Amino acid sequence: MEWPEDLIQSAKRRMEPYDTEGFVLGNGDPESEIMIVGEAPGENEAVKGIPFIGRAGDELDKQLQYLGINREDVYITSVARSRPYKWVKTNKKGSGGMRKANRKPNNKEVLAHAPLLDYQIKEMDPKVIIALGSVAYLRLTGRKDKMTDVLGERIETPIQQLNEEGDEYIPTEKTYTLIPLYHPAAVFYNPKIKEDIYASLDKVKTYLNKETENRSS
Ligand code: URA
Repeated sequence: MEWPEDLIQSAKRRMEPYDTEGFVLGNGDPESEIMIVGEAPGENEAVKGIPFIGRAGDELDKQLQYLGINREDVYITSVARSRPYKWVKTNKKGSGGMRKANRKPNNKEVLAHAPLLDYQIKEMDPKVIIALGSVAYLRLTGRKDKMTDVLGERIETPIQQLNEEGDEYIPTEKTYTLIPLYHPAAVFYNPKIKEDIYASLDKVKTYLNKETENRSS
């Protein structure tokens, strides 16, 4: 995907006030009909510049495999493109007693990088957007639904885009197909949701298969 340099530079400037590092635009096939939107890069991703290559990435790959999708055939990105971190105590030798830990991006950080996702959605015009977790779901739809209530549902909805001033979201006129799923890291914190995850993936599978059938008939 071609990126206007001034868009990148302005997004980086908008993020400067916050505790974030690295910059990961996305990865995969920009011609794909499927866009997958996560939260923000973690430590591994920020170092390598590739989304979802850490532990959450392994889990995402497993779930994509279940859907019969290759990572190379979809486009993977996130609402914030820099790694949000916080300082935490550590006993590790040579660390000076503190280390950086990953954290979720807050609303201001998501807003700072909103022009990037807006641009990408306009350029790609994806048939389906998969929102991984509540941060992506809220950014894209503005809805505060509980993830458990919308998991794997196909939602026809406008997407939130930044206004011209760049400080508030407004809904698009166009309606998009959006499917919310748990963020792949969620199962690490709560292994009990595994059944719900696979039930939601089954819904996605049914939907994607139907789309393929419709197209070939
Ligand atoms: N979580 C995300 O949302 N994106 C990544 O790239 C890694 C973890």
